[in-house]
Amino acid sequence: MVAKLVVVGGGRMGTALVGGLLRSGWAQPSELVVAEADDDRRRGLATELPGVGIEPGPVSAEGAVVAVKPGDAREACEALASVASCRTLSIMAGVSISRIESWLGTGVPVVRAMPNTPAVVGAGASAIAGGTAASENDMAWAESVLGAVGVVVRVAEGLLDGVTGLSGSGPAYVFMVAEALVEAGVLVGLPRTVSRALALQTILGSARLLSESGEEPEVLRAQVTSPGGTTAAGLRALEARAVRSAFIEAVAAAAERSRQLG
Ligand SMILES: NC(=O)c1ccc[n+]([C@@H]2O[C@H](COP(=O)([O-])OP(=O)(O)OC[C@H]3O[C@@H](n4cnc5c(N)ncnc54)[C@H](OP(=O)(O)O)[C@@H]3O)[C@@H](O)[C@H]2O)c1
Repeated sequence: MVAKLVVVGGGRMGTALVGGLLRSGWAQPSELVVAEADDDRRRGLATELPGVGIEPGPVSAEGAVVAVKPGDAREACEALASVASCRTLSIMAGVSISRIESWLGTGVPVVRAMPNTPAVVGAGASAIAGGTAASENDMAWAESVLGAVGVVVRVAEGLLDGVTGLSGSGPAYVFMVAEALVEAGVLVGLPRTVSRALALQTILGSARLLSESGEEPEVLRAQVTSPGGTTAAGLRALEARAVRSAFIEAVAAAAERSRQLG
């Protein structure tokens, strides 16, 4: 039987994607195959993903996702090309569409994506770019696959370094903010467990308010900043330390690094 989808690489991202596809009803377990080179990891996957086919290498399928580390890209793509010639979604950071096309063979539709780790909990942010043979249909297919683990936007391939700097590396920036807020809570006298609970819910709640209200961030910020109040005092301290500029520099530096690595 030809699988609906083969996911090459059963690591963190590959497994998260399969989990999302099953949860969303995109596929039944028997329609999915994970190709994983590592023996121990294959045994773990069999327990983690009951009913999903677990194989040591790629199998014939209607579509494929390549989710191995960039260093294994060529080997994984060539192994895939030897058994299937199907539309392929790559989530490998820094591996260009033209290289993937050269390994998979001419005419194979390739879509390249940059996802991020919140995909593991179904709250990822991915950007996709289409290769020379990718049709509207292939792009919609890639959107449906990554849509199972979060939000998907389309960009030109040249913008994927910028996407890497913003949403690819972005979770780390937010985790650093979380760490700092927890420490700050402890500094002003809160027990660590209380500080952690409040800091995390503040980040989560603010993100939900931003998303669900549809308001711009500056509008929501102004709403909680009364003249001469506590929030204004806190924001002044952030502005004095150029926090806004630090975030701008962080995204630009990560995008530049992505360009160098690519
Ligand atoms: N984590 C992120 O936030 C993130 C964001 C954007 C993009 N990505 C990209 O997503 C890709 C996967 O990341 P990850 O964090 O899921 O990596 P990972 O946990 O290391 O998973 C990769 C898995 O693929 C297996 N593998 C390697 N070569 C193979 C082959 N030829 N055939 C079958 N399986 C093979 C590896 O096995 P071995 O251990 O034996 O090598 C490993 O289990 C990377 O290219 C990364 O750049 C990740």
